Amino acid sequence: MVTEVLVGLNCRPGYLYVDGTVGEGGHAAAILDRSTPGGELWGLDQDPAALTATATRLAHYTSRFLLFHRSYAQLGELLEMQGVKGVAGILLDLGLSSYQLQHSQRGFSFQGDEPLDMRFNPEVEAVTAAQLLNHASPAVLEKIFRDYGEEPRARRLARFIIQARRQAHFKTTRQLVTVIQQAQGPGGRRGRINPATRVFQALRIAVNRELEQLDAFLEQAPGWLLPGGRLAVISYHSLEDRRVKQRLAVWERAGVMRRLSRKPLTPTPEEVERNPRSRSAKLRVAERTA
Ligand SMILES: C[S@@+](CC[C@H](N)C(=O)[O-])C[C@H]1O[C@@H](n2cnc3c(N)ncnc32)[C@H](O)[C@@H]1O
Repeated sequence: MVTEVLVGLNCRPGYLYVDGTVGEGGHAAAILDRSTPGGELWGLDQDPAALTATATRLAHYTSRFLLFHRSYAQLGELLEMQGVKGVAGILLDLGLSSYQLQHSQRGFSFQGDEPLDMRFNPEVEAVTAAQLLNHASPAVLEKIFRDYGEEPRARRLARFIIQARRQAHFKTTRQLVTVIQQAQGPGGRRGRINPATRVFQALRIAVNRELEQLDAFLEQAPGWLLPGGRLAVISYHSLEDRRVKQRLAVWERAGVMRRLSRKPLTPTPEEVERNPRSRSAKLRVAERTA
């Protein structure tokens, strides 16, 4: 949703923009192009590997960008350190990148066989997905699967995991997929979505404390924008989108931000065809009032 993001951010030459989830730098490059001449971009990401690749990708923009290995929830500290009062636009494109899913070897995908790590930032997050599966109580596991994966068989799955870990500790994604299949039972899979999708999503959210990060960001974000500055958030599941939607409504009632539209923007059918992972994307945009 690159065009929609550029329009949503009202991206113009000469201003400073923040991409809080810079990832592989696709949106960042588009923002730098659109804000030429004189526009600048700060890119933040939790994942050190993402920043290395992005630094190379953006190298030809020379002094117009800075990359920071931080959570977007810590943007306030950065602004203070750099003596910046506010920025013209902030983008969050939540979740994980295609690179992380397909090539990071950190167990984000249920399709191969990888170590069950799932940390975006191995330097900060102490607990891997394997450690969570091996040591969390049944009640905690059930809550993670229910709250973060909206998994209807959360209790049953937690029970199967406890049984399985008594035999052998979880180390790899394939072990987890096997237990998910066993917990589904014969004829277990209902609906279009592979149940492993929900379970992997739930573990990733728990390991990276994704909803806490988003809440911490949403608490403070209006204060980081200049008057007229824009916030654009792309989310990929209802847990995130609900939070963004509710918070934008609260800000609007308080007269702090104005929503550009009540309904989120979604990708065009052409974009979904080109990039099937974008099918669940929802973009919400709001503007800081004067
Ligand atoms: C969907 S990708 C972003 C892709 C990016 N828009 C692009 O064009 O390449 C999400 C990125 O957000 C990062 N991320 C997740 N949580 C984060 C957080 N709390 N702070 C900063 N980055 C985060 C992930 O490491 C991942 O690289």
